[in-house]
Amino acid sequence: MKKPDDMKLIVKGKRLDGRKLDEIRPVKIEAGVLGRAIGSAYVEVGGTKVIAGVHGPRGVYPKYLEKQGRAILRVKYSMAPFSVNDRKRPGPDRRSVELSKMIKHALEPVIFFDEFPQLSIDLFVEVIQADAGTRAASIVAASVALADAGIPMRALVSSCAAGKIEGKIVLDLDGPEDNYGQADLPVAVIDGTEEISLLQLDGELNEKELKEAVQLAVSGCRVIHDKQKEALRRRYQ
Ligand code: CDP
Repeated sequence: MKKPDDMKLIVKGKRLDGRKLDEIRPVKIEAGVLGRAIGSAYVEVGGTKVIAGVHGPRGVYPKYLEKQGRAILRVKYSMAPFSVNDRKRPGPDRRSVELSKMIKHALEPVIFFDEFPQLSIDLFVEVIQADAGTRAASIVAASVALADAGIPMRALVSSCAAGKIEGKIVLDLDGPEDNYGQADLPVAVIDGTEEISLLQLDGELNEKELKEAVQLAVSGCRVIHDKQKEALRRRYQ
């Protein structure tokens, strides 16, 4: 989206919401927030609010999707019609299909699928308020919900975006920064490893900027990861 000429996203080294360039928005994570799902989590990153719920492992319908000797993960990301300014048409669209796929790919490397042959782990993520970074918040919530459901995993997956606004690399874009910025780079990291399970780039970055942005996003993932662990500890205290 083209930025109005008189709009400044950085004023005296601070962003419009008062954050420093390398500062993440306030993060709140809670595990086990739903009574009917086997695992669940609520995540807030600034104005972005998502809730994730897990069903299963359970039988796979339709049957042809069943995998011999291992479970499958099915992910459905959706945005509530009231989550954005212009009422979004309810139901799946191309974007939600793509995001469901990205979230699935980001999480699959950590799940021990062999433990549940022929079953399905069904993960639902609902965006209840969107202010950029909903795929990152969805991965964060999904990872905690899977852990809350007792799904065996080798690590949690954390996620955070970095981006470029007014020529500067910044952490965790909010809505106006995403709309009027030059690049958005969501990243997901498998905790305790250097492994990145999601890296997308919307916009343009040169090689130096790309390296800087990945490093910054990874540092954001570390902050998020501590909050994920705290949420799970609180749940089981
Ligand atoms: O949410 P995320 O940054 O992962 O994905 P995006 O496709 O880059 O969307 C960026 C933001 O645009 C969302 O977080 C929403 O705030 C906004 N958006 C919207 O207002 N209406 C839509 N139908 C889709 C996105």
